[in-house]
Amino acid sequence: MIDKPCLKVEIAGIKLKNPVMTASGTFGYGQEYAPFVDLNRLGAMILKGITLKPKMGNPPPRVIETPSGMLNAISLQNVGVEILIKEKLPYLKKFNTPVVINISGDTLEEYVELARRLGEVSKEMGVTGLEVNISCPNVKKGRMVWGTDAKATYKIVSSIRKATTLPLIAKLTPNVTDIKTIAQAAEEAGADALSLINTLVGMAVDVNSRRPKLANVSGGLSGPAIKPVALWMVWQVFQTVNIPVIGIGGIIKVEDALEFIIAGARAIEIGTANFVNPRVTIEIIEEIEKYLIENNIKDINELVGSIKI
Ligand SMILES: Cc1cc2nc3c(=O)[nH]c(=O)nc-3n(C[C@H](O)[C@H](O)[C@H](O)COP(=O)(O)O)c2cc1C
Repeated sequence: MIDKPCLKVEIAGIKLKNPVMTASGTFGYGQEYAPFVDLNRLGAMILKGITLKPKMGNPPPRVIETPSGMLNAISLQNVGVEILIKEKLPYLKKFNTPVVINISGDTLEEYVELARRLGEVSKEMGVTGLEVNISCPNVKKGRMVWGTDAKATYKIVSSIRKATTLPLIAKLTPNVTDIKTIAQAAEEAGADALSLINTLVGMAVDVNSRRPKLANVSGGLSGPAIKPVALWMVWQVFQTVNIPVIGIGGIIKVEDALEFIIAGARAIEIGTANFVNPRVTIEIIEEIEKYLIENNIKDINELVGSIKI
């Protein structure tokens, strides 16, 4: 019987004390969750997607509940990179947890400038890595366009790669016909790891007003409803690339996290579940440890991709 299994994993050269990370856009800038979560215990924190300039996002209504999930059309409301650096990152510096910044832009130049700027302040402000959002479904310009085409994915990831030495995670969209070709393009372009999936495009209609329930008409579907899709994509990508894969999509309990890890994810991100239970990250970390003990597994890395087919 093992009493203290190893939960440490390494992603893109970033050493995590456990494989549980927060998914961008569902954990604010970290500080909002500090009353509920000991931020020191997380594997890593991924913050709300950031752009060069502040953004207001889409008009409301922009969030609705759906069966086993939710649709959101927030569209990257954020404080902009300079306020992030001055007002948000200093608070996080006191924690012993890697901070990964999720970046977005309307143009290739904007992504490159963001990567350069964050690289410049990384040591002083504690930026450990970048997650590149090439997959947001809620914006009119850019973003998802990058992630739905292999050539465009290669172009954006390789351009960012040249602009920074920070560990680079490319976040993929499920709104594609073949996720494997996109994953390969991101790997060839120099991504150190891949995270998937972002939300699936969807909509909902109010039958009384006959209007879309979201002002933006469409939104991104997240939560338990998307887990089987996400798992299938993680498993396919795991077999295709040689870089670590981070699993995201509908994780609300320990079994969900374990499914992703067994299917090939070296780490996982928890999103929508944070809105239901702000302590879910910590509970899942504790329960992963319990599972390892009960199953006599001394190192979480033994479980990664251990699926029997
Ligand atoms: C309200 C909301 C805001 C989000 N904002 C971002 C974002 O800024 N950048 C990003 O890459 N993904 C964003 N996402 C996507 C999540 O990080 C995650 O990929 C997705 O929700 C699937 O995981 P889940 O089912 O655990 O929520 C957002 C999701 C939600 C629900």
